[in-house]
Amino acid sequence: MATNKDKKHYISRSESRAIAKENSKAIRHFEKQKKRRAKPEEYTTEMKDDNNIIEFEDLHTYFFSDAGTVKAVNGVTFSIPAGSTVGVVGESGCGKSVTSLSLMQLVQAPSGQIVSGSIRFKASLFKRDERGRKIPVYETETDENGEEKVKLNEKGKPIIKKNSLGGNVYEMEDRVVDIAKMPTEHMRSIRGREIAMIFQEPMTSLNPVFTIGNQLDEVGLLHIEGISKKQVKAHSINMLKMVGIADAEGVYKKYPHELSGGMRQRVMIAIALLCNPKLIIADEPTTALDVTIQAQILDLLRDIKHKINGSIMLITHDLGVVAEMADYVVVMYAGRVIEMGTAEDIFDNPLHPYTIGLQKSKPTVDGEVDKLYCIPGFVPNPINMPDYCYFRDRCEMCKEKCAGEYPGYVQVSPTHKVACYLYEETKEDGNGQ
Ligand SMILES: Nc1ncnc2c1ncn2[C@@H]1O[C@H](COP(=O)(O)OP(=O)(O)OP(=O)(O)O)[C@@H](O)[C@H]1O
Ligand code: SF4
Ligand SMILES: [Mg+2]
Repeated sequence: MATNKDKKHYISRSESRAIAKENSKAIRHFEKQKKRRAKPEEYTTEMKDDNNIIEFEDLHTYFFSDAGTVKAVNGVTFSIPAGSTVGVVGESGCGKSVTSLSLMQLVQAPSGQIVSGSIRFKASLFKRDERGRKIPVYETETDENGEEKVKLNEKGKPIIKKNSLGGNVYEMEDRVVDIAKMPTEHMRSIRGREIAMIFQEPMTSLNPVFTIGNQLDEVGLLHIEGISKKQVKAHSINMLKMVGIADAEGVYKKYPHELSGGMRQRVMIAIALLCNPKLIIADEPTTALDVTIQAQILDLLRDIKHKINGSIMLITHDLGVVAEMADYVVVMYAGRVIEMGTAEDIFDNPLHPYTIGLQKSKPTVDGEVDKLYCIPGFVPNPINMPDYCYFRDRCEMCKEKCAGEYPGYVQVSPTHKVACYLYEETKEDGNGQ
């Protein structure tokens, strides 16, 4: 009869108690960090490359579960150049969503926490006075002596300047922030305003009991201070028109269940666009849609990227979508980036055995392949990652050296990097950790 010790995943009661104690200690520490009062200087940093809008560096995001620590994101480093679309690919569970949720500070707490690393973001933030309040910009006028002075209303109060939407104008400052070190409270001015997210399944993201108009207006009123209800409604309807909804006024009054899947996804994109974000994260934006609608939504995303002059982080496991949309591609495997490069690098010259396998498992129109390739084996258990290459147990090109420590990155061209021992005769750059 098998004893408990023979069971590979057996955790004794004392081990379980020890894990729970360690978890609550770690969680307390990270929660305290997130709730701390901090001056912006504490999380202000600099971009490594000024052309980037986002730089992830050695990001670790863990889930402290009862069975042990799940290293969902385990040392992720990559950048999003301003104005580009970066596709993040990899099989289910490799940490794509957790990477993007870390960027939004939306990882499911308390068990999920950003443990270490940096997420640098070029933000445009409200300037604050010594009491932490936003500093309004006032209307001015020239008096009879030719001097400029603040314009007052009939009650003698200064009039705040309005932007084109009708919202108050505040003093702004450009600041590079490290989102991984930012208190949650401060993140609120970035989330939704500077970085917006579109999720896979719009039905679960839209509230079924409120009209589309209510949901759009709510976001507008939250982020555009000083805007009137009439102005926010006009802006919401404009956004619905921008995402290609013909009967925008009609859809504004409808409930989510009255719309088709494609329309709902358009509404989600309209919500994401309300505050003119610099970066849109699209997490599997077309997976729940049929192929024709998929193509329309991808066209829309591309079009919108030009209109807002922003960047897109496109998460998908569909290589076809990435080939069509992305300028750069990041391939993730078991919580790490194993290869990255331009779309041409990854599609014309895939190097990592996993990326090569992914390409082979993609259906082709000419039908030359009669059976789709299937990468053998499974991803290692995220609680007990090996100390050698995570792909080794599934790799068909494995060599002796692969039994050693996790491979470092090899820079095979100025744009193309891979973490694999097969290419190490080329110049090495840092490590793949
Ligand atoms: N709330 C959670 N609690 C515990 N573990 C989680 C949680 N959310 C994600 N994980 C784990 O983190 C790892 C990465 O998950 P993630 O959702 O980022 O995968 P993904 O690459 O987005 O996969 P998919 O393509 O299926 O969406 C997985 O091992 C997953 O089980
Ligand atoms: S390092 Fe070795 S085991 Fe890992 S992917 Fe490369 S060849 Fe395969
Ligand atoms: Mg996901």
